[in-house]
Amino acid sequence: TDLMEQPPRPTMFDFHGVCMTKYFTSNWDDVQNFKARPDDILIATYPKAGTTWVSCILDLLYFGQTCPNRQASIPIHERVLLLTFFIPSGKDFADQLPTTPRLIKTHLPVQFVPKSFWEQNCRIVYVARNAKDNAVSYYHFERMNYVFGPWYDHVKGWWEKKQTYSKLHYMFYEDLIKDSGRELDRLCSFLGLSPSAEEKEKVLTGSTFDNMKQNKMTNYSTVQLMDQTVSPFMRKGKVGDWKNHFTVAQNEEFEEDYTQKMKHTTLQFRSEF
Ligand code: A3P
Repeated sequence: TDLMEQPPRPTMFDFHGVCMTKYFTSNWDDVQNFKARPDDILIATYPKAGTTWVSCILDLLYFGQTCPNRQASIPIHERVLLLTFFIPSGKDFADQLPTTPRLIKTHLPVQFVPKSFWEQNCRIVYVARNAKDNAVSYYHFERMNYVFGPWYDHVKGWWEKKQTYSKLHYMFYEDLIKDSGRELDRLCSFLGLSPSAEEKEKVLTGSTFDNMKQNKMTNYSTVQLMDQTVSPFMRKGKVGDWKNHFTVAQNEEFEEDYTQKMKHTTLQFRSEF
């Protein structure tokens, strides 16, 4: 794609204490007034933490058997809609998701989530990824546009929410890499699903990095706005890629700052195995 055809990068500004762009705030009232249904499932992540991976797993879990055409013909971002982005009005947004449950994703920090999700006691799956790999992945994706505020506030904010809101399942990208079968079992138990061994195998096969990278419906190749010659959406999918990007000195500086910022939380990450 010719770079000149890309829309200009939007200005970032402070929005209730969080760095945002107009793409995610212009329809704020519609977002806040969004009417969640009790069986909606919200996938919440800091950008680049594994949103698409877990979206693909959930979509296969719920619709892999009943609507196989869906996986073969509809891009993942149309099967699992981004809450903030695609709402011209709350009604239109809901209409685009005729299936039940509706799978909805968001990158919003916990305090910005429309209140109807809490009121309806919806199930929420939060996916967190260690700071360094998340930063590297985000760098390649956005060239350092840190919208949605600091990673720290995001992962800690959602972690705290989990202490009081029982329908929040907090997942780690690293656990998914380490043992996707075990993580799938845990996810199913949270969702109250009991798929057969064969169904689970299909979910796991359909959501491997290689299969998602090959699949036009999950690799974002249908989205013109992304110039994947710069960096493919399904880039590496590894734990510890940060080592190829951080110098020893940068890592030390990072760790010092990290220790400070993570001092008062029980949340723990692995950034290598
Ligand atoms: P990398 O850039 O490190 O490769 P999101 O979907 O939240 O935007 O996250 C994208 C990141 O998740 C990318 O990380 C991408 O490669 C990785 N990813 C997506 N699907 C994956 C899978 N099935 N297995 C491992 N990593 C996956």
